[in-house]
Amino acid sequence: MTDLLPLVHEAQADFAQAVTPADLENAKARYLGKAGRITDQLKGLAALPIDEKKARGALINEAKQQIEAALNARRDALALTELLAQLKSESLDVSLPGRRRGNGVGLHPISRARERIEAIFTSMGFDVADGPEIETDWYSFTALNNPENHPARSMQDTFYVDVKDEHGAWLNLRPHTSPMQVRYAKAHALKYAGQAAMPDIRVIVPGRTYRVDNDATHSPMFHQVEGLWIGENVSFKDLKVMYLGFIRAFFETDDVKLRFRPSYFPFTEPSAEIDIMFESGPLQGKWLEVSGSGQVHPQVVRNMGLDAERYIGFAFGSGIDRLAMLRYGVTDLRLFFEGDLRFLAQFT
Ligand code: PHE
Repeated sequence: MTDLLPLVHEAQADFAQAVTPADLENAKARYLGKAGRITDQLKGLAALPIDEKKARGALINEAKQQIEAALNARRDALALTELLAQLKSESLDVSLPGRRRGNGVGLHPISRARERIEAIFTSMGFDVADGPEIETDWYSFTALNNPENHPARSMQDTFYVDVKDEHGAWLNLRPHTSPMQVRYAKAHALKYAGQAAMPDIRVIVPGRTYRVDNDATHSPMFHQVEGLWIGENVSFKDLKVMYLGFIRAFFETDDVKLRFRPSYFPFTEPSAEIDIMFESGPLQGKWLEVSGSGQVHPQVVRNMGLDAERYIGFAFGSGIDRLAMLRYGVTDLRLFFEGDLRFLAQFT
């Protein structure tokens, strides 16, 4: 086979140079194809005398097998290279940090304000309650002594839900937290029914409220905190002392004054808006409205299931968003609800 050895080496070198499967197939054709050099050798056998044919044929076959082995080895090598390249291009680098769900930047400023309010009123002996945001006409309006033609009932102010209650009245998205006055007081009255004395009702109800309204100081969804204190001897004086204590604690200053400005609500009589004025700081000297309030109307006390001759008290409904705006110096209410992290991150 000595004369065939250079041919085998040539083929091996040729295959080794093939970089792509196509290169390799072309190289293969040069040796093993129809006009390839091994094929030529085999064709040459025909001219040999019979006794040389066998030995020569065996040599050629041996060379052919070596060339085929080189071809297969190179094929495998190229396939492996290709596989590795593909794996590399599609691979996941598990050492890279993954895409994580962002950590919250902190409590929303409205939640922070609500938590402050809850902490302050809890320290003054108030319970904290929660109520339904989808209300019945009775709790939102009728129980609160709203006349049938009161504007709060109208479609311009209140969002209605396309579902009716058992009396055929549309459900509403509560336009204030006041419905909870009656819900909470009724449950409290029921709990102590038949007993000689009932502990005072003292509760705040923070929560979401809804009105058809949208500008820099009004959002269709906003937050109120209702307050209710009912007992046998609760007066406006208690409201004043309690509310001043709350405002001082909330804003962490004693340099603040309260003013009760006569107003009207169907469910309180007399009624007042509560304004506050800071005597120092950036808001100094301006009266700012923060709450509605009043002595609970006897009809509402009766709707709570209580004796209006015996029980008396006050209620207030303050804007949590308004309080948060004043505390954090925010001038556009809508910023609270746009979910912009650049804004929200400033409160942490
Ligand atoms: N519910 C009234 C409002 O939303 C506020 C209020 C509450 C007034 C309790 C008096 C008593 O404007």
